[in-house]
Amino acid sequence: MAARDGLAAEVRRLKEERDAVILAHNYQVPEVQDMADYVGDSLGLSRRAAGAPQSTIIFCGVHFMAETASIISPEKRVLIPDAEAGCSLSESVTAADVRAWKEEHPGAVTVGYVNTTAEVKAELDYCCTSSNAAAVVSSIPREKEVLFLPDMFLGSYVARVTGRSNIRIWAGECHVHAGITPAQVEEVMSGAGASELLVHPECGCTTPMMYDAASGGYGGRTVSILSTEGMMRRAAESTSRSFVVATETGILHRMRRQNPGKRFTPASEAAECQYMKMITPEKVRDSLLHGRHEVRVPAGIADRARAAITRMLEIG
Ligand code: 13P
Ligand code: SF4
Repeated sequence: MAARDGLAAEVRRLKEERDAVILAHNYQVPEVQDMADYVGDSLGLSRRAAGAPQSTIIFCGVHFMAETASIISPEKRVLIPDAEAGCSLSESVTAADVRAWKEEHPGAVTVGYVNTTAEVKAELDYCCTSSNAAAVVSSIPREKEVLFLPDMFLGSYVARVTGRSNIRIWAGECHVHAGITPAQVEEVMSGAGASELLVHPECGCTTPMMYDAASGGYGGRTVSILSTEGMMRRAAESTSRSFVVATETGILHRMRRQNPGKRFTPASEAAECQYMKMITPEKVRDSLLHGRHEVRVPAGIADRARAAITRMLEIG
């Protein structure tokens, strides 16, 4: 305990000395969330990175998120405490794949999830996150064909809520979320006696459940399909006392702390992202101390990727 307090104090001191802000994603380990100045979802973190007055951003998340922060704020130094913190979903599509797909569908509008590399973003018309994907697709004239990548569960959710049939979806998935099945959710819901279900749209259980969600319920219980920060808001605002949470388990730390009277049960205890968990308090300290690992995007790619991100930020 004393060692942990000592480390937290050292991080606070270094942060001041280095003019740094610590941003952490909702899936980070509790100790890293607790030392962050802001914890949130990918959209919220991008916005915070852009608005932060500090010159250095310590990005506690995965590589594509730190890259996005660097693209939006090229004048800032963005550091990720572990350069190996990747994302299986962002690896599921390359820039060459996107170019070939666009050639097959000339005139189509490309929309890509923020979980992509900077090189892929540079090929897109629009970027989106889980919290604004439907709004971004809705903003595109209805007669235009849409190429949506790389997450197939998020893509079919967006097709459903926007009512679009002219949307082609890349067959990518996140191994953590794809592993959360409808049968598992059903079993945990019954066992926990929960009245409400919170689902991330990357989950494998999303597609069969979204018909129930669209009609407001799932076996008489409330279902909400939301980004991680949307889940946080719903947990606070809902009058339900017991929730099943279908996403990476890191979010439960903040949910439980901010809602002490409510019960939160993970849909799957196994839903852990090993990349998110690579960031530790010691690596955050070392990142501040030694200025590592800097994330930089070549200017030509960053400029093109920024255009897709800016179009998203203008929509919401
Ligand atoms: P959010 O944008 O909802 O935070 O999700 C990002 C992510 O990587 C989910 O796995
Ligand atoms: Fe990528 Fe999945 Fe981890 Fe999110 S949970 S960062 S999508 S591997």
